[in-house]
Amino acid sequence: MTLTLGIETSCDETSVALVDHHGILANLVHSQVDVHAEFGGVVPELAARDHLERLPRLVDLALERAQVGRDQVDLIAVTRGPGLAGCLLVGTGVAEGLSAAWSVPLTGVNHLWGHIYAAFLARPDLEPPLLALVVSGAHSDLVRMPEHGRFEVIGRTRDDAAGEAFDKAARMLGLGFPGGPALDRLARTGDPRRQALPKPSLPGLEYSFSGLKTALLYRVNELGDDAGGQVRADLAAAFEASVVESLLAKLDVALEETGYREVVVCGGVAANTLLRRRAAEVVADRARLTIPPLELCTDNAAMIAAAALHGAHHPATVDPSLGWEA
Ligand code: KG4
Ligand code: ZN
Repeated sequence: MTLTLGIETSCDETSVALVDHHGILANLVHSQVDVHAEFGGVVPELAARDHLERLPRLVDLALERAQVGRDQVDLIAVTRGPGLAGCLLVGTGVAEGLSAAWSVPLTGVNHLWGHIYAAFLARPDLEPPLLALVVSGAHSDLVRMPEHGRFEVIGRTRDDAAGEAFDKAARMLGLGFPGGPALDRLARTGDPRRQALPKPSLPGLEYSFSGLKTALLYRVNELGDDAGGQVRADLAAAFEASVVESLLAKLDVALEETGYREVVVCGGVAANTLLRRRAAEVVADRARLTIPPLELCTDNAAMIAAAALHGAHHPATVDPSLGWEA
């Protein structure tokens, strides 16, 4: 029974979790939305400072919530990258300190592989080989995972990530920060056909969202004052449909190519309502689809601890200067 303390500080969520082979004992997430809202995006310097203020207290709270003592912790797992350098430094620094003070081994986890491991928390009987669509604020990757700890990126974006595209589109439509969830809500009241936008299509398994983003910008400028309430909802729905269908078209090809029977859709964008519904339709009965619950799609430390528990970690001690590795 390896009780693992997970720490996640790669972007704008401070999170501490305790996970063992039975599942999640505690998973506390502090969102910095209030810190960054007035700037319309994440300010790295403020994010790092806030992590530093919150993290030590969050560790105590997580132990309390899980009702375990620090002497019971067997392993500490921390996100080593990818992410904002200053933010990662806070997480790895605190993790190194705890590791030394408690004499507990420390391991660094790749954030993206962490997102995939959220699916193992959602479905404990899940086993590789699996095909994963990892869609976050900075990545849109199709990943083949033949076994635990092995990841092969078979498709990725040429330019913007899906989450980044949603955030920028939301800004164009005058929605606040964070943009993705706001766009999702607005799109629910729109019709994707009334202001249809092109669906990006590159050969192979590559994604590109920058052309679609430009198309939306032109449309918004053209419409000018006519882009009122319902039109903006229609635009949000059209943009969302183009991103989602593009993501799933490549997932469909990859599924045919690999013939895998397990599919995972994960990362912050996997919280999107349309993506969740359409992924189930596209995968259909060709494979079993696992999409983690919303709170495990967006950044959290339970997924980082789960990755370490399953052995998808780097055995060396953490060196944040190394950035991230596949
Ligand atoms: O994985 P995540 O929490 O952080 C990163 O690792 O980047 O992903 C955050 C991204 C943001 O771009 C956010 O706008 C997007 O996920 N997101 C959504 C939704 N919820 C979060 N995008 C579309 N619809 C949502 N419901
Ligand atoms: Zn993430």
